[in-house]
Amino acid sequence: MTEMTERSGGRLGRRPVVGVLHPGAMGAALGSALKARAGVVIWADGGRSHATAKRAELADLIAVPDVAALARRCDLIISICPPHAALGVAEEVAAALTDRDPDEWPLYVDANAVAPATVRGVAELLGTRRVVDGAVIGPPAWERGHSVLWLAGEPAAEVAGLFADSPFDTRVLGTELGAASALKACYALQSKALPAIWLEIAEAAEKAGVSEALHGELTRGGIDLPEQLAKLSSRASTKAWRWAGEMDEAADTMAELGLPDGFSRAAAEIYRRWSGSTS
Ligand SMILES: NC(=O)c1ccc[n+]([C@@H]2O[C@H](COP(=O)([O-])OP(=O)(O)OC[C@H]3O[C@@H](n4cnc5c(N)ncnc54)[C@H](OP(=O)(O)O)[C@@H]3O)[C@@H](O)[C@H]2O)c1
Repeated sequence: MTEMTERSGGRLGRRPVVGVLHPGAMGAALGSALKARAGVVIWADGGRSHATAKRAELADLIAVPDVAALARRCDLIISICPPHAALGVAEEVAAALTDRDPDEWPLYVDANAVAPATVRGVAELLGTRRVVDGAVIGPPAWERGHSVLWLAGEPAAEVAGLFADSPFDTRVLGTELGAASALKACYALQSKALPAIWLEIAEAAEKAGVSEALHGELTRGGIDLPEQLAKLSSRASTKAWRWAGEMDEAADTMAELGLPDGFSRAAAEIYRRWSGSTS
């Protein structure tokens, strides 16, 4: 079977060209994890910051000028960017592929912390049989045992194979698009929505002039508020702007499931305020 017929059947070749959009902390780790099995791992330089270029260089990824150049070369694209940008990135890729035979379009993994509806929007642009819904639980992985990449969708098992023996433990959640994203949204309610309440509690007590009394009461109940705030701050200080987008997507997930979405909407607002963003 030639590489082209392999691709037209939705199959990756033996040494696929993989593109990472974009090599942030997680994208650089995912790109690096794929180097062993990919022919080459590329990234798109256009519009990205010096920090992204530096991370890509350290991860030994190959630069191409822009998203269009990347989309035209790739057999597989991994979208790993701020959640609010996920659909826009897929639109850029779809626009770049209009002059490529649809049978040769790449597989596309949306590995962002987005709602299932966002993944279905990506599939409308790029084709359900080419899209894999992905979600990472754990930090950017440079060694095994810390992070799991969950995958769902028709070509999920094939993509999982590329990560064999890599620092990312990869698990397939079935063929239905949205399953991995729903899992991530549920997890994020625990990891990001719940901790946001500490920020609201602290600010409310300060505004009401009852901080000291509250600290006393919480301490009596075995809760150390400054410690909770310090823990959250060390995790979120540079990421709150991105967590706001993730909480918006988690809220959309809850709403789609017919559940109250207020926890995650409030968390989104809290992280937006905290990061000083006005968006
Ligand atoms: N880091 C983690 O611990 C972790 C864990 C699980 C899942 N994730 C998921 O991984 C994804 C990326 O996280 P990360 O930690 O890699 O973030 P990051 O380090 O902030 O990197 C984000 C990357 O996306 C690019 N970017 C920024 N704004 C963009 C926009 N509007 N459109 C397109 N690209 C844009 C950035 O490029 P420039 O800055 O150069 O513009 C950067 O290369 C998120 O969906 C997140 O939920 C992260």
